[in-house]
Amino acid sequence: MHWQSLVDHQLPTLISIRRQLHRYPELAFQEYRTARLINDTLLANGLITRTGIAATGVVGLLTGNGRDSRTIAIRADMDALPIQEQTSLPFASAIPNVMHACGHDGHVAIALGAALVLKQIQHHLPGNVKFIFQPAEEGPGGAKPMIEQGVLQDPAVSAIFGFHLTNSLPVGTIGVCYNEACASTNELKLTILGEGGHGAHPHHSVDTIVVAAEIILALQSIASRQVNPLQPFVLTIGTIEGGYTNNAIADQVKLWGTVRTLSSTLRATIPEKIERLVAGITAAHQASYRFEYNEGYPPLLNNQALTALVAHSAATIVGGGNVVEMEPSMGGDDFAYFALKLPACYFRIGSGSADCTFPGHHPQFNFAEAAIGYGVKTLVQAVLEYFGVEDLEK
Ligand code: NI
Repeated sequence: MHWQSLVDHQLPTLISIRRQLHRYPELAFQEYRTARLINDTLLANGLITRTGIAATGVVGLLTGNGRDSRTIAIRADMDALPIQEQTSLPFASAIPNVMHACGHDGHVAIALGAALVLKQIQHHLPGNVKFIFQPAEEGPGGAKPMIEQGVLQDPAVSAIFGFHLTNSLPVGTIGVCYNEACASTNELKLTILGEGGHGAHPHHSVDTIVVAAEIILALQSIASRQVNPLQPFVLTIGTIEGGYTNNAIADQVKLWGTVRTLSSTLRATIPEKIERLVAGITAAHQASYRFEYNEGYPPLLNNQALTALVAHSAATIVGGGNVVEMEPSMGGDDFAYFALKLPACYFRIGSGSADCTFPGHHPQFNFAEAAIGYGVKTLVQAVLEYFGVEDLEK
């Protein structure tokens, strides 16, 4: 039997696991039930596991026959989002205001599927495969603490695969990026401080609403005037908060935003550009400010050779015409921390269909479950190619 039929055979089990996870989603660092299901499944299938890494992280290890000393890792994130699900799926979330709206339930099912299938062909595996189930991808991030707690050691990992389902690609396709795959994510928190007063007598006050309005518009000129037009950059102010009532001058306005770049070099120059505009505009209006800038995930840079390997493996599974070279995303993923440490390839698994059109983080998000099978097959094929195993019959 070809190993691909093992995947087809496992698919109903994997879909059932996905639906259980979907029904009982858990937020960042609270993925206890999810972790237990993962650990139980890995143990029942004969893998060696470690639990409780960065609170809820789980690692499964499959040892090879020793002909190759390397260890390849597969990473799946497992957290859900604080969103009230609005689908009518029979397995819709049973937890109010928590939903697997980014497909991480599918990611867990895919990585478990790869573990189950690779276990069945373990005697053909020259090296080891480590399965990393990571909490809190949606923030504050589980990858960094897992790395700090030694997840890439014992045995040392030599390369890593990460992946994400996407409804922007039809099911049966795989998307690859040879360089940057995701952006750096940075948080901007700005408070404009002025002087309150009566709305009828603005000349006795310092109106932070007007100052904030000017700052919001001026910040967009960083993208258009201060950053190389060939360098992707986005700054979004997501919330504005300030003021009391219609006829009072607001003495304080809070702006909260996100700043994204694909380049680490550009990323490092941005806080100073923002603060210079804020300092100048507030000074011009006799206002003051508090400036807080928090670096989030770094840009995710793929390894070209490993990406070529994944593209080749995917072509074996879905056909070369269904492997799509994608533009980078300005979204972030803390898989980037793994990619800073070792050769990494983060690819996309098409999961769109006529019924599954909503994007991730939408309250009606769902994905085509056939994508689980394509994801498992692509990962298993990539592991086999990584170890130089010729296509095998079981
Ligand atoms: Ni996601």
